[in-house]
Amino acid sequence: MEVIVVPAAQDVAMAAAGIISRLVAGKPGAVLGLATGASVERVYAELVLAHQKHALDFSRITTFNLDEYVGLSRSHPASFHAFMEKHLLGRVNVDRKRVHLPPTDGDDLAGSCEQFERDIRAAGGIDLQLLGIGRDGHLGFNEPTSSLASRTRIKTLTSVTREANRAGFGGEEVPLHVVTMGIGTILEARHCLLVADGPAKADAVARMVEGPLTAMVPASALQLHPRATIILDEAAAARLSLRDYYREVQRNKPDWQR
Ligand code: GLP
Repeated sequence: MEVIVVPAAQDVAMAAAGIISRLVAGKPGAVLGLATGASVERVYAELVLAHQKHALDFSRITTFNLDEYVGLSRSHPASFHAFMEKHLLGRVNVDRKRVHLPPTDGDDLAGSCEQFERDIRAAGGIDLQLLGIGRDGHLGFNEPTSSLASRTRIKTLTSVTREANRAGFGGEEVPLHVVTMGIGTILEARHCLLVADGPAKADAVARMVEGPLTAMVPASALQLHPRATIILDEAAAARLSLRDYYREVQRNKPDWQR
């Protein structure tokens, strides 16, 4: 894992958006795996700025989102469809024909999940998967004890996650079921880019980076990935025991690795 520690949440967003912008500029037909949540919201704001100010062109990209609630209408303000529309898709020149969110309705949800996996493969696989991390170490909606080989499927949320995601539901119950890409699906992306900020993430981050590989911390599966970049602010990095080492690596990074 490459661990990059920057001073504040805004710096996390700028660094992550820089990586995505360079990918899209160099490969206009890139396939992006996208995530939702407050951490990635700031990344999207930076990408929208890059589109507006520097004409970063999204017209040929293909996107696949990580997860979505089952049984929530797409227009519900707390749905991930609505989130993506509000923060990215509705603000850049993306071609809606190449936008994919996991299926959440229909009679054969399991079959639709398999089709979602086939669609990822047909697009050539994901070049870069953007990720946040849950306080319990989840990736997408792969809650603790998710199989590290899992594929896109239905999951049941923990009460911790339902509580954390309550905002936006305005007093309504947070759905219990979701569809999420599996850990195995995520690990097939050619580059995984995870962002985290704030003290509430410090424990999950330390367990992901320095703890044992375990299904109890689904994000620890990124230890298996040959190219995982973790961008953290100081608060989210606070419990990493090798923090100084990660800084030294970044300070001394050879030019050919930049
Ligand atoms: C949700 C999403 C995850 C995301 C997590 C953290 O549970 N399904 O993909 O990583 O929230 O979100 P936030 O950045 O808001 O803390």
